[in-house]
Amino acid sequence: MHLKIAVLPGDYIGPEVMSAALPVLEAVLKKGGHTLEHSTHPVGGAGIDAHGKALPDSTLAACQAADAILFGSVGGPKWEKLPPKEQPERASLLPLRSHFRLFANVRPGLLPQALLETSPLRADRIASGIDMVCIRELTGGLYFGAKSTKEIAGGDIEAIDTMVYRQSEIERITDVAIATARARRKHITLVDKANVLETSVLWRKVVAARIAATAPDITLAFLYIDNAAMQLILRPGQFDVVLTENMFGDILSDEMAVVCGSLGMMASASLGAGHNRYGKPFGLYEPSGGTAPDIAGQDKANPCAQILSVALMLRHSFGLEAEAKQIENAVDRTIADGIRTADIASGKASVGCKAMGAAILARL
Ligand code: IPM
Ligand code: MG
Repeated sequence: MHLKIAVLPGDYIGPEVMSAALPVLEAVLKKGGHTLEHSTHPVGGAGIDAHGKALPDSTLAACQAADAILFGSVGGPKWEKLPPKEQPERASLLPLRSHFRLFANVRPGLLPQALLETSPLRADRIASGIDMVCIRELTGGLYFGAKSTKEIAGGDIEAIDTMVYRQSEIERITDVAIATARARRKHITLVDKANVLETSVLWRKVVAARIAATAPDITLAFLYIDNAAMQLILRPGQFDVVLTENMFGDILSDEMAVVCGSLGMMASASLGAGHNRYGKPFGLYEPSGGTAPDIAGQDKANPCAQILSVALMLRHSFGLEAEAKQIENAVDRTIADGIRTADIASGKASVGCKAMGAAILARL
């Protein structure tokens, strides 16, 4: 296979973790007899600095010509004074999601036995381990509904965000959740706010009907978002596949990541309705943790989430399951060998981003 990848490192720790991940990608492909063609492009704050735009035209064109996008992370204090619409996150990540119709965000929340002590949860709550995945709808809801801010009567100011969902949007993300659940413990928890929101009532109806009609082998549970946030802390082991809308998924996936030890471990795949040259979903793969400006440039970042995002890319956009597993196993072995970046070291000795990347590469 010949893989064409657009590499968008972004800002702060983005380029550092990307530098650790690319050699892993190159090595695993070489071993499997595949070839890699990749080009690097500025995005987010780096795009603003280089071309005056968070998503430069040349970067978007490179993404269009690729089979998949490997993304770092964007945003940070340097660009916080810009008008909200021009800031890196809103002006690069969200347009990429909508341009490529990346409606399905897959975020695995896994707490390996070797990392139990990194979880902020009490040992008895996580004794049976945590292994869940969040399937978050990514191109609808409050993020993409009509927005406005205007002055109204009496000099007051009104801001509006709209939450819109269509049956067809709910059905296609439900299908992703069903496929994900089938490869796992076959249980879906739909998280919503059906006691208040009209959209949530529709979600419940559509998801239940879809599962009844097409996936009788899958069990379905409903949880309100407030209860779900609590259950994730009380009994995280109960979750297999968590299906939810955009905003709830944004919040819950961060909670999942930290319950599983560190944001620095959580990979993410944003899968599109479109397909690449290999007939596989076009996707954007990124760590969930953000740009961490406080530790940028100090070789302290955890590259695992970026490296595990490479594994997700190989699996979902290229069907290279064996190669994906090799990367995941190399990360597992590195951690089992006690090699840790500071965020997962529980106060014990730690290594830097480069050394962590090299240790994973050495175990491939
Ligand atoms: C995420 C991030 C983004 C989101 C931000 C950076 C716009 O938090 O991918 O979870 O809210 O979706
Ligand atoms: Mg988020």
